[in-house]
Amino acid sequence: MNDKSYSPTSTLAWSNLETQASVANGVRITELFDADPQRVENLSVTSGELYLDFSKNLLSDKVWSALLALAGQSPLQSHRAAMFSGEPINNTENRAVLHAALRAELEDANSNAERNRIAQVKEQLQAVKRASDKIRAGQWLGSTGKAITDVVNIGIGGSDLGPKLACAALEEYSHAELNLHFISNVDGAEILTTLKRLNPETTLVALASKTFTTQETLLNAKTAINWFADTLGLDNAQSSSHFVGLTANPDNAMAYGIPEDQILEFAEWVGGRYSLWSSIGLSIAISIGFTQFEQMLAGAREMDLHFQQAPLESNMPVIMALLGIWYSNFLKVESTAVIPYCERLLLLPSYLQQLDMESNGKSTALNGEPVDYDTGAILWGQTGTNGQHAFFQLLHQGTRTVPIDFIAAAKDNLSNEEHHRVLLGNMLAQSSALMTGQAASEGQQHRFYPGNKPSNTLLLKQLSPKNFGALVALYEHKVFVQGSIWNINSFDQWGVELGKKMANELLGENAETAKFDPSTKALFAYIANNS
Ligand code: F6P
Repeated sequence: MNDKSYSPTSTLAWSNLETQASVANGVRITELFDADPQRVENLSVTSGELYLDFSKNLLSDKVWSALLALAGQSPLQSHRAAMFSGEPINNTENRAVLHAALRAELEDANSNAERNRIAQVKEQLQAVKRASDKIRAGQWLGSTGKAITDVVNIGIGGSDLGPKLACAALEEYSHAELNLHFISNVDGAEILTTLKRLNPETTLVALASKTFTTQETLLNAKTAINWFADTLGLDNAQSSSHFVGLTANPDNAMAYGIPEDQILEFAEWVGGRYSLWSSIGLSIAISIGFTQFEQMLAGAREMDLHFQQAPLESNMPVIMALLGIWYSNFLKVESTAVIPYCERLLLLPSYLQQLDMESNGKSTALNGEPVDYDTGAILWGQTGTNGQHAFFQLLHQGTRTVPIDFIAAAKDNLSNEEHHRVLLGNMLAQSSALMTGQAASEGQQHRFYPGNKPSNTLLLKQLSPKNFGALVALYEHKVFVQGSIWNINSFDQWGVELGKKMANELLGENAETAKFDPSTKALFAYIANNS
């Protein structure tokens, strides 16, 4: 089947999986363990310092073979080669998808074009190094000659979530005297309360926006500019040393007034939700230092190489993607949860929501036709052990099955032996209890735990910049694999455009409310009368 005529549902593997799903009801994970003493060895895989145990899944040998066959019968491998070589696989925007080039080394290049691209990336990252080194050394001075102590990243979506997650996750490596703040929401309470606590003389604003057109970011930027005017009497603060621009649209940033040498550029082929590896990651480099930032890139590159080179059956992103497809397309599971047993990964589920749901929440196939099967999973999550005291009740005894990714670091330098033992003991107990369940005695149905609830367990040796980079790249590629098999474009986001357009219509000077539906008109009127 060539790529143009491909549809996952017309593959032999898909029909085979449907047959397997029709008999899957009786399968118990614990019985699969009983039948195969080597199950853990067979269903676990390592990449660098990441270890994935996927043995606690509703995965028989037959299902596993059929899933691998689906990957083989899909355009996954040609699509992967096309992405890494820079073909415009984002077909609705005619763009290449090259976030992996942001962490590539010259030795990875297969052509002069690729070598030039990597060289250009390295040059752009040198600007990140220069700026972050200067700020960390206390040599970047505000308009009154004082060194910067606080950096406020203003951005939203990919221009916020990745850097915010990385700075929190890599707290262990953070600069002791620099404070990072992240403003994303257009809710004025967020920026106004943050600025109130800061000294404008020692504050630097990093305006992070791929397009430099985003409504929320530009309004927050205006509020910051006004704050500098009110507090320091600074006219056009965006042109002062208190602002840097991080963008793929330097013309817009310059037109906004940011001096050219304070604009850190990245290429248009970096998707917003894949941009933490670019100059959008300036706040990360400020927090942990450029050397550690490079370690993060090195970890992501290690995962890129694993994804390109490992056979499908031991390829971590492919395995996780196939399991997701098995659950959602065949066992009709509605959502999936990511539960890190690490408080510093609290923001990982939010980050993954954008990565996964903005990428694969699509219903048009690459050939422009509507799809007739489910795509993007609904992803949610929270850290353990907190989640145990909130929604785990539903996971254990509710009527729905929610496959879980448990994630933890085997070693944590910021914790101590006792805490870490209790934390990880809880995680292992939960995944085991969810799988094994427990019978109840007569009349005690409320004490019945059905079990058979699937999960992956992903262990990092520790939460180092390198392993963090590999973790994020793992999920990037998982999303890519699913998009390839579902035959959708994982790299556009047209779904967000209609809401933006209608917000502009509602907010225009002569708000065009007349054409809105009756409910919206009434709500608009209620707010107008009560604000
Ligand atoms: O509206 C969605 C989106 O385009 C995301 O994909 C992106 O990460 C975010 O907005 C912010 O865009 P920008 O970086 O251009 O401000």
